[in-house]
Amino acid sequence: MKKACVIGWPISHSRSPLIHNYWLQRYGIAGSYERIAVAPADLEKFFARIRNGEFVGCNITLPHKETTLVHLDRVEDEARISGSVNTIYWEGTNLVGTSTDGTGFADNVTATVKGFAWAGQKVLVLGAGGSARAVMAGLLRRKVEGVTVWNRTAQRAEALSQQFGEKVSAVAGDALIDAARIADVIVNTTSAGFSGTPQLDFPFKEISQKKIVSDIVYVPLVTPILQQAKAYGHTIVPGLGMLLYQAVLGFEKWFGRRPEVTQELHDLVARDIEEGQTL
Ligand SMILES: NC(=O)c1ccc[n+]([C@@H]2O[C@H](COP(=O)([O-])OP(=O)(O)OC[C@H]3O[C@@H](n4cnc5c(N)ncnc54)[C@H](OP(=O)(O)O)[C@@H]3O)[C@@H](O)[C@H]2O)c1
Repeated sequence: MKKACVIGWPISHSRSPLIHNYWLQRYGIAGSYERIAVAPADLEKFFARIRNGEFVGCNITLPHKETTLVHLDRVEDEARISGSVNTIYWEGTNLVGTSTDGTGFADNVTATVKGFAWAGQKVLVLGAGGSARAVMAGLLRRKVEGVTVWNRTAQRAEALSQQFGEKVSAVAGDALIDAARIADVIVNTTSAGFSGTPQLDFPFKEISQKKIVSDIVYVPLVTPILQQAKAYGHTIVPGLGMLLYQAVLGFEKWFGRRPEVTQELHDLVARDIEEGQTL
């Protein structure tokens, strides 16, 4: 029986088992997907278990997304660019790491907004953390026209724009309003507004054109910035879909079947979030 897992410290909050076990059951695959608590000091021991053939692969969550890089035989571009790994799989005898967050984000918007295609879009990214890097890497692969990045700590946005090259520019201060007016898509990658933390005060009242507004945070399911965007008539794309779409590639690599993100799966995970409201 093929075994996969998600590792993190802590790990009890992870909803990945709900997603992968739904697919295993739906497709009648004899496999398993479990949560494994791995303390930072035990990461090497966990990799010894993988290399012994115990698992067909795994997901990686905090705090191991960066420290995992040194344990791999090959790191895919998505993971190298974003500096973090969330999915590991075997390619022959090589252990490969990738980051599926950028693809998960991009596919979620495409699946949610009818007729939408990324090519030629202008995107405003709020935040300059690990997820912002993954989202930007995903966007640039999809040939967007350009990305503007804003961050509370302006130097981090500037550093990102330099890392990503000419298609990416940083904005600060009032220039955020101009960038928002020009953008087709606005995405929040900051943790502001996450599970009751102070929300981002985004200047929607200054923007008259209708936009697509997405948030990668999915607790609560409709975050404060999405509530505001909806109230101003923008099209919203909640972050839960990103969590579901980022899981597709791992399942396919481990269990040999590309799984479908169904409404039933969405509702299953949404219910779990509504009942728990934790990370
Ligand atoms: N939907 C999904 O599948 C998915 C996948 C990955 C992550 N996420 C979520 O994405 C969020 C960000 O993750 P991350 O790994 O990028 O975190 P991170 O690397 O710690 O970055 C956090 C970002 O949020 C900003 N920030 C934090 N508090 C803020 C506030 N009060 N006002 C304005 N900006 C604030 C930080 O700005 P400074 O630089 O100024 O500190 C930074 O840009 C997390 O909540 C995570 O759960 C969702």
